[in-house]
Amino acid sequence: MVEIHVVRKDNRHLYEKYFDPYFRLRHDIYVKQRKWMDLDRPDGREIDQFDTEDAVYLFCLDGGQLIGAMRALPTVLPTLMSDIFPYLNIRGPIRRPDVYELSRIFVIPERRGEHAGPRVEMLLLTAIMEYGISIGLTGFSIVLESWWLPRFERCGWKARPLGLPQVIDGMSVLAVLVDCDDTTWKHLCSQIGLTQPTLTWLGLTGVNRLALPDIPVLPPASVQPAR
Ligand code: COA
Repeated sequence: MVEIHVVRKDNRHLYEKYFDPYFRLRHDIYVKQRKWMDLDRPDGREIDQFDTEDAVYLFCLDGGQLIGAMRALPTVLPTLMSDIFPYLNIRGPIRRPDVYELSRIFVIPERRGEHAGPRVEMLLLTAIMEYGISIGLTGFSIVLESWWLPRFERCGWKARPLGLPQVIDGMSVLAVLVDCDDTTWKHLCSQIGLTQPTLTWLGLTGVNRLALPDIPVLPPASVQPAR
């Protein structure tokens, strides 16, 4: 069964065994497959200066195997956008406790493009929204390739550009700010058929969490009134 776990400094000790495979997967995916050679490291583990104890990770696990992940960084601390790509954000740096920066979303190749259930990638996009509204965030800043924009549009993520796209290493890249709100989360849940929150908060009972809104339960398509 696919589970999405919140991993942060307060419960990282419970997930230590996943970190080495996690950084090796990042190396395989970003360096070997995507050829982002700036991230290459001789030890075969893709770790950067933002993998600090303040980073929050979503680990997508299936039967104990890591099949996907995403990273969220508080924008009050250094981020990719503030330190590496500041020129993509012409509105000036975002340093807000209610905004986290997302990066390093991936799904292992064998689990991409699945159609039998919610795609792992959609589960991660839904889960990070759940995380955000649970801890009171209002937005996510992201440095991304332009091909994400139609995907965000399709799944209901509202992304506002913070500057014009630039070509970096042959990729069209831009900075965006995405709304983190109840409406987006509920829409995503309905879209992928989730009837309850999806995150596992193992060892995080000390974290103050806001109540989540009810997820609307849509009737099956066959009994929906004709329009
Ligand atoms: N360039 C352009 N479009 C891409 C792309 C890329 N590098 N990677 C994915 N897409 C788009 C394409 O439209 C693709 O459609 P296609 O099947 O017609 O090519 C669509 O996304 C579906 O992607 P797919 O990889 O089949 O499945 P997915 O939706 O389950 O997973 C990702 C999407 C991005 C999570 C997955 O491709 C992945 O892990 N990629 C490697 C990590 C990565 O590049 N992350 C983003 C930057 S941090």
